[in-house]
Amino acid sequence: MFLKIKNVAKMFDEKNGVKEISLNVEKGEFITLLGPSGCGKTTLLNLIGGFLTVDSGEIILEGENIEQVPPEKRKVSTVFQNYALFSYYNVLDNVAYGLRYFRKLPKKEARRLAQDYLKMVGLEDYADYNISKLSGGQQQRVALARGLATNPKVLLLDEPLSNLDANLRAQMRCEIKELQRKYNITMIFVTHDQVEALSMSDRIVVMDKGCISQVGTPKEIYLSPANKYVASFVGSANYIEENDKCYLARPEDIEISKSVDGDFKIISMMFLGAHTDIIVEKENKRFEVSVLGNKIIDMEINDKVNLHVLNKTEIL
Ligand SMILES: Nc1ncnc2c1ncn2[C@@H]1O[C@H](COP(=O)(O)OP(=O)(O)OP(=O)(O)O)[C@@H](O)[C@H]1O
Ligand SMILES: [Mg+2]
Repeated sequence: MFLKIKNVAKMFDEKNGVKEISLNVEKGEFITLLGPSGCGKTTLLNLIGGFLTVDSGEIILEGENIEQVPPEKRKVSTVFQNYALFSYYNVLDNVAYGLRYFRKLPKKEARRLAQDYLKMVGLEDYADYNISKLSGGQQQRVALARGLATNPKVLLLDEPLSNLDANLRAQMRCEIKELQRKYNITMIFVTHDQVEALSMSDRIVVMDKGCISQVGTPKEIYLSPANKYVASFVGSANYIEENDKCYLARPEDIEISKSVDGDFKIISMMFLGAHTDIIVEKENKRFEVSVLGNKIIDMEINDKVNLHVLNKTEIL
């Protein structure tokens, strides 16, 4: 196993921190830590990066226990949410920094190599720009290049896209994923955005209160969630109680049809272009249904409708 996190715990007090985490990461894998604010994502990343020390457990990278290795010697590098770039350096020198101080390359060689990393992230023409002159997306790319330049075995990314607007986020998602695939980089990516997690990851680690709730591919997490917590955190979930069992039906698993004597009433419709999210209600029980394209054309709020569940999975 490339990176092995074995029974790792780090508690700041009785409630906060990570309780006991075990996770194996393969070389070249894109792993996402997904969970609500305060669940321990950054803490786990900082333990791997060496910015925090474990209370108990082991972190083993390519067979070596790295617990005692200081962050700058760990072969792990971190891209932070605020990028942590040096505003008094130009773009090239921000990237060359890691090469000079971590890889101990002479200045000239570091700057030459830094140029290669800028090319990797499409910023080769911006080498002499001041950091403050760059857009958010460009700064993000500099931070990525700087992280990659130290040639880490694992690149950790802590919510790197959260400062960007929606379009740039979508673009950077693709760029990071492409870079990761092309260079077979092992990445551990932190987010609380389910779209980011589903679209980028080889596997997602869903966390809750310092513990792992489920580890799986995006499809496994979405289609076969381990429990209600995972089902509700990743995507929208409808729960149907039948014969003492509980079933999950996703909004797209339910068909809706207008009918004057329908059981349900439409109480909200959110038009989102490609699809419309509709909330229907019957005796205080609500369901969320997703309808594709123009199928909603004859429906309005307060209309009576019937629901037909096309697909459901038992859930704990
Ligand atoms: N240095 C610290 N001292 C005390 N408590 C801490 C420290 N760092 C984190 N915590 C607490 O531990 C819990 C987990 O924090 P962490 O930063 O790992 O959460 P997170 O999942 O990254 O959340 P977010 O999505 O908001 O970034 C939080 O309740 C936080 O307040
Ligand atoms: Mg965090």
